[in-house]
Amino acid sequence: MAAQAFGHALLAEWALDPQVLYLNHGTVGATPRRVLAVQQQLRDEMERQPSRFLLRETVSLVGAPRQEPSRMRRAAARVAEFLGGGGADVAFVDNATTGANAVMQSFDLRPGDEILVTDHGYGGVTYAVRYAARRARAVVRTVTLPYPRFDAAEAVRRVREAITPQTRLAVLDHITSESAIVLPIAELADVCRCSGVAVLADGAHAPGAIALDIPSLGVDWYTANLHKWAWTPRSSGILWASPARQTGLHPPVISWGLDQGLAQEFDWIGTRDPTPWLAAPAALDFMRELGVDAVQGWNHDLAWEAGQWLSRRWRTELGVRAADTGTMITVPLPAAFGSSREDANRLRDALLFEDGIEIQLHAFGGAVYARISAQVYNEMADVERFGEAVLRRA
Ligand SMILES: Cc1ncc(COP(=O)(O)O)c(C=O)c1O
Repeated sequence: MAAQAFGHALLAEWALDPQVLYLNHGTVGATPRRVLAVQQQLRDEMERQPSRFLLRETVSLVGAPRQEPSRMRRAAARVAEFLGGGGADVAFVDNATTGANAVMQSFDLRPGDEILVTDHGYGGVTYAVRYAARRARAVVRTVTLPYPRFDAAEAVRRVREAITPQTRLAVLDHITSESAIVLPIAELADVCRCSGVAVLADGAHAPGAIALDIPSLGVDWYTANLHKWAWTPRSSGILWASPARQTGLHPPVISWGLDQGLAQEFDWIGTRDPTPWLAAPAALDFMRELGVDAVQGWNHDLAWEAGQWLSRRWRTELGVRAADTGTMITVPLPAAFGSSREDANRLRDALLFEDGIEIQLHAFGGAVYARISAQVYNEMADVERFGEAVLRRA
């Protein structure tokens, strides 16, 4: 498909409400219709013979051992082709939160150990870190990232300086949630590795958004969502673990596979609907059909142009560079829009319920910010409509 077919021409591929301008793809994702159709076919197949589909084909829980890989393993291999590495290193999890919890609950923390997080870490994941630290009487140290003027080299320096002899683990975003910054994860991992600090990367927003080759990043574990930028039905996440980190890694819910390896432990944690994961290859095929580079290029260019346009129109400062930007960009609103969470919520409600615009707004460090998600069905006219709608409320 030619690049000029991107933008509103692609809205027909999604089931989004035509009454709402959707600039919030990153928050919970949105699944293309044709991928939902594949998921429904899988569900129909499952319902014709549920026991066989789930217990013999999705995993091998009953019956004689089978020669061919299970449906879960075949899907994992296809996803691994897309993310880098082999399927044996990839477990499916419900979402990035679950992947992070698996690592935090498995990591052997001792009293006095230190875990590094940043002040841009996703709240839910940081709570999982705090909970594990609380149980082990370990200490969580928060590194303040340079912001709103972001500087990648300075971020690496601050992480390096925060490492102490007690530091055992760093939990670092690949793409930060609210501020939408692509962090230099390979450099950060390198700094940690040099000091013997293990790294859990939270790549919730990365698959499908940016070019990714997980094994080359040098992290120990990488958790991510497929249901955001990889167009897979919810809930669909992955947990990648380097071969050296697979022993002793357990899902937060223990079932039949205990101590039998990554795939056995994570593929079956009780009866669930596996169709989101099984539909992942169809989602990736659709992206390939449009052209993975073309999709990521369109989204990145649109996010970057959106950031520049909005900051000019609103007369605020954009603190990131194109190189720090993936498919989302976060722009400060003019000071007149306040600085508190309540200010952000009020405006977010007004934009949705009165103007029909779905956008992520948040308060951080004394300002209200908008995070714009750029997906192939968006174009600059959407950004301009949003920017003007904000100004009308000043
Ligand atoms: C950086 C980051 N980590 C984790 C999550 C949690 O994702 P989920 O709710 O799918 O587990 C998000 C959600 O937006 C996120 O931005």
